[in-house]
Parts: sequence; structure tokens; C-alpha cells
Amino acid sequence: MRSADASSREPETRTHRDVVSFVRRGERLTQGRQNAWDRLSPFYVIDPPRGERDTLPAAGEHLDPQEVFGRRAELVVEVGSGTGDNIVAAALAHPERDHLGVEVYLPGLAQTLSRVERSGSPRNLRMMPLDAQRALPAMLPEGSIDQLWVYFADPWPKQRHHKRRLINPPFLDAVLPLLADDAVFRLATDWAQYAHHMRQQLDPRPELALLHPHGAAPEGPSSDAVPQGMPSTGWAPRFEGRVKTGFESKGRAAGRLIWDLAYTRVPRRPGSDGAPSPGTRPTP
Ligand SMILES: C[S@@+](CC[C@H](N)C(=O)[O-])C[C@H]1O[C@@H](n2cnc3c(N)ncnc32)[C@H](O)[C@@H]1O
Repeated sequence: MRSADASSREPETRTHRDVVSFVRRGERLTQGRQNAWDRLSPFYVIDPPRGERDTLPAAGEHLDPQEVFGRRAELVVEVGSGTGDNIVAAALAHPERDHLGVEVYLPGLAQTLSRVERSGSPRNLRMMPLDAQRALPAMLPEGSIDQLWVYFADPWPKQRHHKRRLINPPFLDAVLPLLADDAVFRLATDWAQYAHHMRQQLDPRPELALLHPHGAAPEGPSSDAVPQGMPSTGWAPRFEGRVKTGFESKGRAAGRLIWDLAYTRVPRRPGSDGAPSPGTRPTP
């Protein structure tokens, strides 16, 4: 088992192909968190041999959810699970489902493990300390995810950083094939600019259909400028299983609105190569 310290930090030099949606800093764990990691990671952390970087699995590493969880159940995946507020709560609330949190921030993972232990150690949960964009498509079978969650992804507000936003074509090309037919993709952000960007990226994808095409936009004053052309419908109500995290609280305290989105994975045509079937999107 690898130790969760900063010694294996990835090099700073990257080509454009390697643009990533995260920054790794402050990776050192407190003694308490290191203890939690040492105690719990053998069961809870999926820790495959690494490839060219510490956040990438070695070539040929696969993850069979049925084998990992010892059963076939609905699979919920959260990308950027932070300190585990949502994925742990979901594992406790839904013992009939299996849950996978993917997070590159090791102190967040260690906090998640402490939370897991405090909450009675649900066994339908695993964590993966890898870059979701490249690890998930390499490791998971196509059509294996029933719910995908991305809550409060880093907004990367500066124009020159927009390419680092998670919700961009490289991530969508990587994860949308992993969604099962009729799977649900849920997102939330407290940044109006990022909410607008998400709609621009997600609405045109033929694999996805809005789950709430008539859903109203959040109401009230917002301290950040709501972009021109922001859709007035298509927004989801707050998903009742979504726990309020520190990122949401910070956004609200700063006067920003919370933008929730939900899409469903359009069913593939039988015998197709994964392309969505025409005419199966709900009419808006
Ligand atoms: C702003 S935080 C939000 C955390 C959590 N969802 C919440 O609401 O508290 C975004 C998290 O996504 C993680 N992240 C960003 N890109 C990632 C990727 N490609 N793979 C895995 N984790 C990623 C970051 O490390 C960070 O912890």
C-alpha cells in the first residue's frame, strides 16, 4: 500500500495534452489523517499501480465494480468528492447502491476515510485517488455508471484557465460512454459563469437530455454577474440527496446563487456502437 505523502508529487512540466482540472498542493497529512489512511485505505481505497503520473493508473488496469463490491448493484460515481460529504452520506442512505468517489486531493480523501469510520463504515463505498478524466475511461466498463455527480467543480474563472474546467469536451468524451442507458448526471455550481459554460457544453451533447427541461433558474439577487444568454429554463431542483458542503456554504455566504443541473443518458440503439438513438430524448 502506498503511503499518502507528498513525495510522489507529479512534475510541474506538462504539455497541452496534459491540461488537468486540479492543482495538487498541501498534500501532507496530519498524523490523525495519516492514521485514518493507514487503518482504512486497504479496504476503502482503490490503489492500482500507477502509470506515467501519480494520478494515472498503469496501462491495462481495470476496475470491475461487481468484483470490487462483491455484487451487482446500481453504481453512483462522484468526481471531485472533496472531503466526502456527499458520497459518504449517499452510501449510508442507500445501502442497496454502490458508491465510488474519485478525488486527487489526498487530505480530502483522508478526511473522507475519517468520516467513513465515524459514520459506521458502510461497505458499499470505495475511493479512488486518481484523475477521473483519464482513469475512469481506462478502468471502468462502458455503460457501468448509473449516476454521475460533479458538485462544485473548480470554476477556473480566469479566461486563460477555462481550458482547465472539468466540464469540457475531454472529460465529457471520457465519461459519457461510461453512463448506462437512462443514467443520471447531476451537477451543481455556485458560479453563474460556470453554470452558463456547463449548459453550453452539455446541452448540445446528443448523449444527454435535460431531466427538467422546464425547470426554472434559481431566483434572487446574485453577487456574480449572470451571463447574457443564460437559459431561463432547464435547471434542476436541488437534488434531495445532495448534502450542503463547505463550497456551497461559501458560495451562498458570498451572495452567489446555486445552479443545479440534471441530465439523463439517452439510451443507445440496440446493437449500436454506443451512439444515442434518435427520437428518444424527452421533448422539452
Ligand atoms: C471545489 S472542490 C469541490 C469538492 C466537493 N465536490 C464539494 O462540493 O465539497 C473540487 C474538487 O475536485 C477535485 N478534482 C478536480 N479535478 C479532478 C479530477 N480530474 N479527478 C479527480 N478529482 C478532481 C479537486 O481536487 C477538488 O477537491
